[in-house]
Amino acid sequence: MFDLAIVRGFVYRSGDFFRENVYIKGGKIAAVTSEVLEAREVYSADGLWVLPGFIDPHVHFSLRVGKWTSVDDFFSGSVSAAFGGITTFIDFIDPVKSVAEMEEAFKRRLEEAKSSVVDYAFHATIASPTDAPGDIASKAKELGMASIKLFTTYSSSNRRTYDDYIEELLRLSSEMEFVVVVHAENDEIIKKMEGKNVPPKDHSRARPTIAELSEVLKLAAMAKYHKGQLYIVHISSGITAKEIWERYGDILGLHLITESCPHYFWLDESVYSREDGKLFLMTPPLRSLDEVETLRDYFDAIVTIGTDHCSFMRKEKMEGNFTHGIPQGIGGVEFSFSLMYTLFGPGVIDKFTKNVAKVYGLYPKKGVIEVGSDADLVVFDPDERWFVQSHHSRSDYDVYEGLELHGRVITTLSKGRFVVKNGEFVGEKGWGSFLEREAIRWL
Ligand code: URP
Ligand code: ZN
Ligand code: ZN
Repeated sequence: MFDLAIVRGFVYRSGDFFRENVYIKGGKIAAVTSEVLEAREVYSADGLWVLPGFIDPHVHFSLRVGKWTSVDDFFSGSVSAAFGGITTFIDFIDPVKSVAEMEEAFKRRLEEAKSSVVDYAFHATIASPTDAPGDIASKAKELGMASIKLFTTYSSSNRRTYDDYIEELLRLSSEMEFVVVVHAENDEIIKKMEGKNVPPKDHSRARPTIAELSEVLKLAAMAKYHKGQLYIVHISSGITAKEIWERYGDILGLHLITESCPHYFWLDESVYSREDGKLFLMTPPLRSLDEVETLRDYFDAIVTIGTDHCSFMRKEKMEGNFTHGIPQGIGGVEFSFSLMYTLFGPGVIDKFTKNVAKVYGLYPKKGVIEVGSDADLVVFDPDERWFVQSHHSRSDYDVYEGLELHGRVITTLSKGRFVVKNGEFVGEKGWGSFLEREAIRWL
């Protein structure tokens, strides 16, 4: 006897939809079949899609940055995520310089994350590291964080990691089985404006496309040369996506993985000139309308979608006059899938599921509907048209408010339990667990 059956839906498997029933036992998928079997509880997904739970590889819950802390903690952030169909997310430990600091930072984050209603993992974050790359990588893996995030910029706040160190990390990444996760902006280009009085309307000029493009191409060259495992976060510009496709298409998916975020597909820099433009400040910035169109055209150059969810209150965003006095980041976990589905249809599914799971060492536990995988599922209505009106984030505003979207998450299950059921939260604080990732090998 199975614990639960999700019946009569169109189940997404191997890139196609099948009219099947999914049977769950002990939190795992136990059978996927067109046969009718006995289960203690039956949930009808008649006519709806049954998708693997989404994996957001890039969120910042309770992020401490300068004098601010992002307002969604692991409880409110994970609830909001669950409403968006996200059953796994990857957050970051606070930036560390050494092996000794890493253990401490990891423990603190683990404690904070205990309230999550869905599963989670962490990237190890380094800033201006002092210990050797190999030692940092060994410690991160030992702690179950086989992905190491760094910044190529922010030298003014002592967070930059320099090229010689990055090159060594990339050289080691395949043989030591970890991923080098990079926030890529050229520090020299940005530095002259950073910390200066940049008004919000000049945000994208102060962090221009060329700063991203030049840095990404250099890193891609290093990854190709060393046959490494390089993951570029939050690609903001269409030109970057196009150039990757044309110059480094041969290593895409092998030695280079590209992530972008829904806001770079939906919004453009003109919002920064609005009276409420500060509400849209994030790094890297929104780009020109031309660039947004190019990014949409080169959607195939993007392997995963992450939200970079990092929300603040309206008051915190509106207070300062210049970009360095305003916390950077916006929310996004609740609507990311519908936003991308509205633009691209079912072609987005793998970028939220299988691709992320494979890139970050979670496959096949996560990211697929197969026997033996965790029963993380999303019931999705592909036909519903709806307006973004409210959310479950703690933030008191949403940049997507009023947008009409196509397709809506109806129900979300994590490890065989309903977290959101027919639009109602029915989850449990602390249901989520930490996912250890000790080794990641792409090839
Ligand atoms: O503005 C953003 N994205 N804040 C979060 C930190 C980062 O750089 O991803
Ligand atoms: Zn970043
Ligand atoms: Zn981020």
